[in-house]
Amino acid sequence: MPTHGYQRRGKWRIDDDELTFIKRNRNRARLPAEDAADATDGLPEGDRWSTWDQSSPTQRGPQPYPDWLVTELAAVDTELGILKTGKEADVFLVRRAVPGTHRSCLLAAKRYRAAEHRMFQRDSQYLEGRRVRESRANRAMANRTTVGRAMIATQWAEAEFAAISQLSSAGLPVPYPVQVLGTELLMEFIGDPDGTPAPRLAETRPDPASLLALWDQLVPALSALARLGFAHGDLSAFNLLVHRGRLLMIDMPQVVDVITNPRGGEFLDRDAANISRWFAARGLTGSDLEPGDLTGRLRAEAGLNAA
Ligand SMILES: Nc1ncnc2c1ncn2[C@@H]1O[C@H](COP(=O)(O)OP(=O)(O)OP(=O)(O)O)[C@@H](O)[C@H]1O
Ligand SMILES: [Mg+2]
Repeated sequence: MPTHGYQRRGKWRIDDDELTFIKRNRNRARLPAEDAADATDGLPEGDRWSTWDQSSPTQRGPQPYPDWLVTELAAVDTELGILKTGKEADVFLVRRAVPGTHRSCLLAAKRYRAAEHRMFQRDSQYLEGRRVRESRANRAMANRTTVGRAMIATQWAEAEFAAISQLSSAGLPVPYPVQVLGTELLMEFIGDPDGTPAPRLAETRPDPASLLALWDQLVPALSALARLGFAHGDLSAFNLLVHRGRLLMIDMPQVVDVITNPRGGEFLDRDAANISRWFAARGLTGSDLEPGDLTGRLRAEAGLNAA
């Protein structure tokens, strides 16, 4: 009996789209042992061969690839631990290294779960009208078959990868997007070489000067985002990391196109209100732009009318 597929009229049936999907994703560490055998052949438990060559060039980050990134085919991925479990995705720390050499880098692997509750609402809200080529794939997703749910998770991973790729190319402060493969997004690990992750802004207690310095990074980053026509869509002090004084935006699968999305302005306002409230509550003073003026600034940058 196949490991994947769905039962219809008492028989296991896998249609072509699903088969393509399964083939594309079979070489993944989290699939059952027999499927993952090729990926882990001869390696210690928990390791897999680097998945770099399995992503097509469009599923890899913008070129030139950074020097620190290990792209050698002989590299091995070792899972070092979990950074965070969430409702929709789990984030793991992975070391990609060439055995017997000094070539090594740390990556954050964000693995989307086959969609659950919040995702259901979110994908209807955000993915509405997003073009899906295969109509049978569409049906599998609508019916929430096992494969259909994995397809939704794949779409989220791809959406986040596409967003951070565009933003990274535009020079915005986001982790470098390494590659996307199925439901897994690999990106630059933001943290220390010993694997300690950078704290979320919400976990920091910046003194007044540091608070101002962070605000002075946030405003241009969000302005640049708005100029590109986007709102983060879920901006809060939990989706910003602070590494050695540097602010980075993360968690962007739901990036909103503020021009084409009829509720674009609302998302922009909500993001601005959320984050400026956090800074105001911590007593931000001395800034060129008052927290309360962020919404207006972002609307102007995006070319939208005032709220
Ligand atoms: N590139 C990264 N480097 C270091 N840590 C990261 C990175 N990406 C994510 N993390 C950690 O994993 C956490 C979860 O990531 P993210 O916010 O993208 O996922 P999420 O599942 O949507 O989370 P949530 O639902 O809690 O917002 C982050 O808060 C951060 O602590
Ligand atoms: Mg998050």
